[in-house]
Amino acid sequence: EGQRHRRMKEAHQIAAEYYHHMLLHTEDGEEALQYLEDRGFSQTLIEDYQIGYALPTWDGLTNLLTARGFDLAEVAESGLLIQREQDGSCFDRFRGRIMFPIRDESGKTIAFSGRIIEASTSEAKYMNSPESPIFHKSQVFFNLDKARASIRKQHKAIIMEGFIDVLAAVRAGIPNVIATMGTALTPQHVTKLKRLVEQVIICYDGDGAGWEAAKRAGELLQQSRIKAEVAVLPEKLDPDDYVKQHGATSFKEDIIDKPHTYIAFVKMHARRGKNFQFDNDKMQYVQEVVDLLVHNTSPLERDLYIRQLADETNLSEEAILATLRQKESDEAQRSKRQQQKEQFTPVVVTHQ
Ligand code: GTP
Ligand code: MN
Ligand code: MN
Ligand code: MN
Ligand code: MN
Repeated sequence: EGQRHRRMKEAHQIAAEYYHHMLLHTEDGEEALQYLEDRGFSQTLIEDYQIGYALPTWDGLTNLLTARGFDLAEVAESGLLIQREQDGSCFDRFRGRIMFPIRDESGKTIAFSGRIIEASTSEAKYMNSPESPIFHKSQVFFNLDKARASIRKQHKAIIMEGFIDVLAAVRAGIPNVIATMGTALTPQHVTKLKRLVEQVIICYDGDGAGWEAAKRAGELLQQSRIKAEVAVLPEKLDPDDYVKQHGATSFKEDIIDKPHTYIAFVKMHARRGKNFQFDNDKMQYVQEVVDLLVHNTSPLERDLYIRQLADETNLSEEAILATLRQKESDEAQRSKRQQQKEQFTPVVVTHQ
């Protein structure tokens, strides 16, 4: 098992070097290199992150790994190649894409994400390696290998939606930044973070999907008693867009250094599209915010936000507090019933 993982990682290292060489030193790679330069990637960044280019051919990497004596079926299992069902032969998975190596915590390449250069309606913008014995999406953070030292030092990690955004932040002089691989933050991710930090700043895209994802990520972090804050971007911008439009200094000073508390962020979110002229909107707003206060909030936070809610809605603090108590007791009953159910679940012993 250990040997197999080692060989898969070795194939990934060779692939990363191959793609990197194609980007920097071939005519075929020029368009891709130009694209990266236009998006503000410096030579240093391209080298630090070993960014590359996969030719639009079917067998470039396949031939290289054959020549190096790799078992192609095993390499296919690691995600780099695809094996044909008919005859078992293999071809390159990534073709005609800019290649971003995804590394594990020790800096070993375990997967790739490939971006098409031209906007296309028929092809996905990004293609990621599939799940494999060495790549488990629900556990991997892009850039954790490079960011770990500064995350430890600052006791704080910044988490983004896209790895392109991470690279923009790194360029803007912010080192403690990571991203999940196109998936939502998972409990496994949170477990990993818990070992590193007490505080996380969520900085997701300024769109509906980003807000929803930030809300869920914050909830998951709070449940693990990691302090979550949200750095909010203007609508329609992601971190990369923001740096491009407003510059690195503004990104750092106006966005990253001025995060909202998680509760303030969810309140903002809950408030959108509601009109307090309507009783229903008003009551729904209070319910949504109170739901949030039931879990993992300190007495100070409760006091603060109950007052705020009362001010905002013209409802009494007493009524809001009573709503909170009601939800708490509902919650307590539910978890008691759950415990009783678990107690009476028979233990099944399986004999192998
Ligand atoms: P740019 O358009 O290059 O600026 O990328 P972005 O980071 O702004 O991408 P976006 O906000 O659309 O997506 C965020 C993350 O979701 C990316 O980093 C990918 O990991 C993932 N993602 C986006 N599009 C796709 C796709 O078409 N397929 C897959 N598998 N993942 C995607
Ligand atoms: Mn494994
Ligand atoms: Mn997005
Ligand atoms: Mn984006
Ligand atoms: Mn973007």
